[in-house]
Amino acid sequence: MSLIKLDDVSKLYGFGDATTLALDEANLSIEKGEFVAIMGPSGCGKSTLLNVMGLLDRPTHGTYKLQNRLVDRLSQNRAARLRRDTIGFIFQSYNLLPRLTVLENVALPLAYKGMGVTRRLKAASAILERVGMQNREYFYPYQLSGGQIQCAAIARALVNEPSIIIADEPTGNLDSAGSRLIMELLSEVHKMGNTVIFVTHNPELTRYATRVVYMRDGMIIQDESTSVGQVAKTAKARLYSRPKKSVEDDLAGVSLLMKTVPDKESSEPLPHRKKKTQTKRRPNTKAKVKGRLDT
Ligand SMILES: Nc1ncnc2c1ncn2[C@@H]1O[C@H](COP(=O)(O)OP(=O)(O)O)[C@@H](O)[C@H]1O
Ligand SMILES: [Mg+2]
Repeated sequence: MSLIKLDDVSKLYGFGDATTLALDEANLSIEKGEFVAIMGPSGCGKSTLLNVMGLLDRPTHGTYKLQNRLVDRLSQNRAARLRRDTIGFIFQSYNLLPRLTVLENVALPLAYKGMGVTRRLKAASAILERVGMQNREYFYPYQLSGGQIQCAAIARALVNEPSIIIADEPTGNLDSAGSRLIMELLSEVHKMGNTVIFVTHNPELTRYATRVVYMRDGMIIQDESTSVGQVAKTAKARLYSRPKKSVEDDLAGVSLLMKTVPDKESSEPLPHRKKKTQTKRRPNTKAKVKGRLDT
């Protein structure tokens, strides 16, 4: 029995001429305890897939079974309750409330559950200790680094003790040290027996995953099991098949990787001038800005 089972799930946005097919008959099963990375170019449907799996959005067609229970037609209230008890969601843009302290932010999901203030602050404090943020409880979000804010967001996602963690580009706004911190934290959560699903543009971060799902145009185009500690083969093949240029190039992301995959472009090295032009035209910056607006 799969923990998560999507069958022919499609998601349409808009009407008439303005319709977007964000998910196109996607099929995906995830077992308990997997650590799944989802990769693909900007706009290919990664966030939509996470939102459907995380019960933030409903599929237009197809079925979604969570813990063997059909959940694609739940009422909003039921979906919210199930989400609260089962799923911890982490967004790229943190979504901490600026006027609340770190401790209050982390305790917030427990308030929605109706827990009293003393108990919930105590629980929040315990979780903050687990993510190494015990000395930042009374700080406000603006007083923290990006990595620390994201740690707090992870603590908030964990405070309800969900068994599934869904993270949409959790390291998207962080430098490599910050990214490592977050991924180590997610690894800890995974080692405790939880299921972790995250979106990344950075092939290096597939090292943490046990499986990588590649998407394009709303479809799942490849599904690869990987060993923890190793970069996934598909991502790696594209990363190391060209001479390295700079750290930025290494992090250019799967947007570019996936774009070049189907073209079967010549394996001959590109002439120097052409390479330069290509670097300039990389969609990296644009994709990042778009990603921020999306979330
Ligand atoms: N709420 C929405 N309304 C209309 N179109 C949307 C909405 N959310 C996403 N889309 C569109 O669906 C497609 C997939 O988006 P998304 O899942 O955010 O992709 P990704 O996370 O891979 O960048 C994109 O074309 C996007 O513009
Ligand atoms: Mg997205």
